[in-house]
Amino acid sequence: MLKRLLFACIFAALATTMGHALDHQAKIIIPIGPTSPADGKQMYTSYCAPCHGVDGRGHGTASSALKAPPTDLSNLAAANGGKFPVSHLVSVLRYGVEHPAAEMPDWNQIFARMNQVNPIIRDQRTSNLVDYLRTLQVR
Ligand code: HEC
Repeated sequence: MLKRLLFACIFAALATTMGHALDHQAKIIIPIGPTSPADGKQMYTSYCAPCHGVDGRGHGTASSALKAPPTDLSNLAAANGGKFPVSHLVSVLRYGVEHPAAEMPDWNQIFARMNQVNPIIRDQRTSNLVDYLRTLQVR
C-alpha cells in the first residue's frame, strides 16, 4: 500500500518536472510512470519512444509538436563511422544535449528524482538505456 502511494507521489512530481521542462516550448507532457532500471526496452518505450519513435527513427507521436526533429537514434553508429558512441550517449543522458535550446529533456535530473537520488540506480538506468539503443542500430 505504502509502495503504491509512493509511486503515485513520484509520478506526480515527475510529470510536473517534464511539464516545466517543456513549458516554454511545445505544450506536451509525457507522463513519467515507474519502470524497472534493469529493463532498457521498457524505459525506452515509456520515456523516449513518444518523441524518438518505437524504432528510434524520430517519428514518435509527440514529435510533430517539437521545434527540432528528434535525432534518429537508429543511425547513431552509422553517423559515427560505424562505432556505437557509448560515451557520447552516457554524456547526453547525464548532462543533456549540448545546445540549450534543445527540447530533449534532462534525463539525469529525472532519473535522479525517480530513485531518490540514488546514483547507483541512476547509472543502471543510463547504462541499460544505452544498451537498448545499441539494439536499435541499423546495420
Ligand atoms: C520531448 C521529446 C523527447 C523525448 C521524450 C526524448 N528526446 Fe531525445 N531528443 C529530442 C530532440 C528534439 C532531440 C534533438 C535535440 C537537438 O539536437 O536539438 C533529441 C536528441 C537526442 C539524442 C542526440 C543528442 C546528441 O547531441 O547527440 C539522443 C542520444 C537522445 N535524444 C536520446 C533520448 C533518449 C535515450 C530518450 C529517453 C530516455 C529521449 N531522447 C527522450 C527529443 C526528445
